[in-house]
Amino acid sequence: MKDSIRIWCPGSVSNINVGFDTLGFCLSDAGDEIIAERVSTAGVHLGALRGFPTPSNPSENVAYVAANAVYNAAGESKIGVKLNIDKRIKPGSGVGSSAASAVGAAFAVNELLGRPFSKQELLPFCIDGEAIASKTRHADNIAPALLGGFCLVVTQENHLAVNLETDLDLHYVVAHQQIEIKTSASRTVIPKEIPLKTSIKQWSNLGGFTAALFKNDIRLLVHCAKDFVVEVHRKSQIPHFSELNDLALKNGGLIFGISGSGPSVFALCEGKHNADNVKSAFDQLLRNKEHDYHLYCGAVAKNGVHELL
Ligand code: HSE
Repeated sequence: MKDSIRIWCPGSVSNINVGFDTLGFCLSDAGDEIIAERVSTAGVHLGALRGFPTPSNPSENVAYVAANAVYNAAGESKIGVKLNIDKRIKPGSGVGSSAASAVGAAFAVNELLGRPFSKQELLPFCIDGEAIASKTRHADNIAPALLGGFCLVVTQENHLAVNLETDLDLHYVVAHQQIEIKTSASRTVIPKEIPLKTSIKQWSNLGGFTAALFKNDIRLLVHCAKDFVVEVHRKSQIPHFSELNDLALKNGGLIFGISGSGPSVFALCEGKHNADNVKSAFDQLLRNKEHDYHLYCGAVAKNGVHELL
C-alpha cells in the first residue's frame, strides 16, 4: 500500500441553467491539490493547510468530514492518514470549491486504505463533507468532480450519479469576479414552490439537454439550455451579468449562465477557438470594471478526481 499520494481535486460548474441541484460538468484548469500521507497515529488528521483559508477545526472542515466518513465506513481503526491541503479554489466562488475539497479528501483516504470503495460509492461521503459548507445535501458539484465530464444526479434520496456521455468538443470559459456569494445565502432567494407550467418547461429542457449530449446535437443543446427557475432570481447579485451574457453569445459561445450559486458565470463553446474568443472578450470587459477577477478556460475534463503522478 502507498505511503503518500498527491491528488488533483477539480472544480466544477453546477446547475448548467436547466439542472438546479442535478447537473454539472468538470473543469480542467481549476482545482485544489491534496497530499495525503500515512502516519502512525490512527485516524484522519489535518496537516498543512495552504492557499485560501480553510477551517482548522476538523468538524468544520469539509475535506476532513468527507475523509473521516470514508475512514469510518471502511471500518478502519489502525491506519493513520494526514491530509495536507493546498486550497486553490476560492471558497464562495461558484465553481465547486467545497466539493473539490470533499471529493479530493474522500478519494485520497480511499486510495490509502487500499480502495475499499468504488468512485461511485464515495458519493455519499463526499456529500457529508459538502453539506458542512452549503447546509444542504446536493451532489451537482460532487458528481462531476468525482466522475468527470457531464453528470446528472438521478435520485435525490440516495444520490446516484450518471455520466452523460458526449462526443461534442465542449470548452468552457468561467468568469469569477471576486465578490463572495455564499451558497447557503444564495439559495434563500429561490422560491420554495414553482408553478406547474414553469416546471413543465424546465423538466422538458433538462430532458432535452441530456438527450442532446448523448445525440451530439448542438442545436438541441442550445435550444434546451434556457433556465426558467433560478437565473431570474439570482442574476441581479452578479455584476455585469447582461453584458457578459451578450459578449458570450456574440463571440462564439453557445450557452451562458450562472455557475452554481455564483458569482462566477460560465459560457460553453464548441471548440477551443470559440472559447479563446469568449475569454478574450470577457477579459476586455472586466479589466475596466470594479472587481478583481479570474478567468478559467479549458475543455470539459473527461476525468474527475485523480492521482497526480
Ligand atoms: N446547486 C447548487 C446551487 C450549487 O445552485 O445552490 C451550489 O453549490
